[in-house]
Amino acid sequence: MTRSFPDTFLFGAATAAYQIEGAAFEDGRTASIWDAFARVPGAVVGAENGDVACDHYHRYVDDVALMKQLGLQTYRFSTSWSRVRPDGGPVNTKGIDFYSRLVDELLGADIVPWLTLHHWDMPQALEEQGGWTNRDIADRFTDYALSVHDALGDRVQHWTTMNEPWCSSFLSYTAGVHAPGRTSVLDGLLSSHHLLLSHGRAVQALRERDADLDLGITLNLTVADAADVADPLDIDAARRIDGQFNRWFLDPIFRGSYPADIVRDLRKVDAGAVAEWQDAVHDDDLDVISTPLGALGVNYYHGELLSGHPQEEAEGNPHETPGQQRQTASPFPSHEGIQWVERGLPRTDMGWEVQPEGLTRLLVRIGEDYAPEVALYVTENGVAYDDVVGDDGEVADADRAEFLRDHVAATLDAIEQGVDVRGYFYWSLMDNFEWAWGYAKRFGIVRVDYETQQRTVKQSGHEYSRIIAARSV
Ligand code: NOJ
Repeated sequence: MTRSFPDTFLFGAATAAYQIEGAAFEDGRTASIWDAFARVPGAVVGAENGDVACDHYHRYVDDVALMKQLGLQTYRFSTSWSRVRPDGGPVNTKGIDFYSRLVDELLGADIVPWLTLHHWDMPQALEEQGGWTNRDIADRFTDYALSVHDALGDRVQHWTTMNEPWCSSFLSYTAGVHAPGRTSVLDGLLSSHHLLLSHGRAVQALRERDADLDLGITLNLTVADAADVADPLDIDAARRIDGQFNRWFLDPIFRGSYPADIVRDLRKVDAGAVAEWQDAVHDDDLDVISTPLGALGVNYYHGELLSGHPQEEAEGNPHETPGQQRQTASPFPSHEGIQWVERGLPRTDMGWEVQPEGLTRLLVRIGEDYAPEVALYVTENGVAYDDVVGDDGEVADADRAEFLRDHVAATLDAIEQGVDVRGYFYWSLMDNFEWAWGYAKRFGIVRVDYETQQRTVKQSGHEYSRIIAARSV
């Protein structure tokens, strides 16, 4: 049976500045924490970096034409803080002009611009002043947000403050596998709080400017299932993972408090760090953080089946990245004793399970428990496969086409269950720099040949175009 999407539902694709732009030191842009981190030996597979990436900075006109050809209705991109305000200092006209041209190009192609202010690439000069661990960052971030709004506010309606703050805090400041590569429980905790505070402050400042802006944040959320739903240890493992990934961010944003059970867990791991973090949470911070939003972006890649029982041959933690596997550090300070249980689902090139029904359950839960008044958008969902280019130059990625179809259908399932989901963005428009994995992992519906910068629409891209045209699955 064919099922249709609501008329107003938006189909799009997503990217991020550092992953595609290149032109890393052109027109006044200075180093971000990723430019610095990518130069640390061993930090990125193959010692790769984003200096050139997909050269989108010079090819954005062709890239927007490609989006148009695919039939995208919206495009999610991020602005580079280091391009707009190099070193976190005064506004760089040439840098902001790039985004102004990009937005004009999108609007000219009838594609809705969906702007993210922070997709992990803070200026390195600000990291040298403490980065996200320094409370002053909230003022710097708000100034940056307002300067982007000065230039683009007349044309951009949808604004996302942060992309996946879990990654910019715990994965980056505690596990050390993303920039800036720090390994401290306290730094992860402080960063998570200051990311949320910066989000809240920026939302308030932007809203004061223009009450009609659609303001939101994007979180990476998961579905944590207990291996045995009657086993207290497994239930507890699921509680902890849900708390660490989901509730640590959802609760402050939508309920104005941090989850007490996770604070208790953390105290057992590092009581000193928790005490310092608590001192850093000032009286009215949670009021600022819970400023009402118009939109919540949900990034979903996979769920997890969890056990609290030690296993001889435990499966890998899907949140591991190359650096982490080398260090065997935990991305969150209280993962100890948790086992990821193999359940026979197909896995992607990242080792992540393919679990579309998890997306439906996640959206239903968020819609019911946290954000009944807020529009939900799947701001990222996608898959890395080791694509093969055929003799005819085509990429017959039937596996990615199936993944895309199934997750789009899972989104529609949630809508049919009454959740207000208003859009889906495939990650990613094109193959790009996959952080600690470099260029080794390809998520695009468009293939990028990094030698020639040639773009080729994959079979999955054609399939997505058909879905968008039919507005049904
Ligand atoms: C989440 C991030 O937002 C994006 O930058 C990354 O490339 C994808 N997930 C895939 O790992």
